[in-house]
Amino acid sequence: MGEFALSADRLSVKRGGLLALRDVSFEVRAGEVFALLGGNGAGKSTTLLSFLGLLKPEAGEARVLGQSAHENVADARKQIAYLPEAATLYPHMSAEENISYFLSLAGVRRDKSAINAALERVALQPAARAQRMERYSKGMRQKVAIALALLREAPILLLDEPTSGLDPIAIDDFNILIGDLARSGSTVLMVTHDVYGACQVASRIGLLRAGELVGVFDAPADGRIDTDAVHAAFAGRAAS
Ligand SMILES: Nc1ncnc2c1ncn2[C@@H]1O[C@H](COP(=O)(O)OP(=O)(O)OP(=O)(O)O)[C@@H](O)[C@H]1O
Ligand SMILES: [Mg+2]
Repeated sequence: MGEFALSADRLSVKRGGLLALRDVSFEVRAGEVFALLGGNGAGKSTTLLSFLGLLKPEAGEARVLGQSAHENVADARKQIAYLPEAATLYPHMSAEENISYFLSLAGVRRDKSAINAALERVALQPAARAQRMERYSKGMRQKVAIALALLREAPILLLDEPTSGLDPIAIDDFNILIGDLARSGSTVLMVTHDVYGACQVASRIGLLRAGELVGVFDAPADGRIDTDAVHAAFAGRAAS
């Protein structure tokens, strides 16, 4: 198992007394972008929380670099930068202040030029950076949350709906950024509802339905996963 950055091994997890994941197995190789698709309540966020070691498996394991995440939470967390589904940043603080504050909570120090470079990468308007976030649009807030995850400089990124609230151009920019990160060796596991974006950026896509992994799509060599096939499987019908 050691060769995989992340692996779910027959993972079953309960939320609120019911199985939210049932016998889920998949692997994410180092330097790969793996996208998890599925409808609301399918178990996508539960899968990410399992790799953070925050949920005790009912059966099976979520492994980070071959080690049980749940049994080695501190080790797992050192390898991972996590973008939560609803990232909370403080409205009375600027983007720069929020980032410095949350990095310091994580025990990470980055200088102003590194923070500016991250905000540049996510294309947050320079004029907004020192302004309080209370009047930021949803997309601007999401860009700051993505920049914060990047600044952790962890080898593994777990991103829960990173493109939620972004416009199509910002989504394209984000996908290019994720592709660059993977080429430079980062491993990315991202949850998304964006089938098109997932096919643009992922080398593999896993489809969750009611807690079960019902399909895995592989990109062909030098090609992309077929959007129509994934969309059809997502919608539960044959590709036309
Ligand atoms: N804190 C909780 N307590 C009880 N049940 C929960 C809790 N969180 C999630 N669940 C249940 O676990 C299942 C999986 O939830 P999960 O959040 O993983 O879904 P998801 O695929 O991320 O959905 P979405 O697209 O809506 O974010 C759902 O049935 C949900 O109701
Ligand atoms: Mg979710």
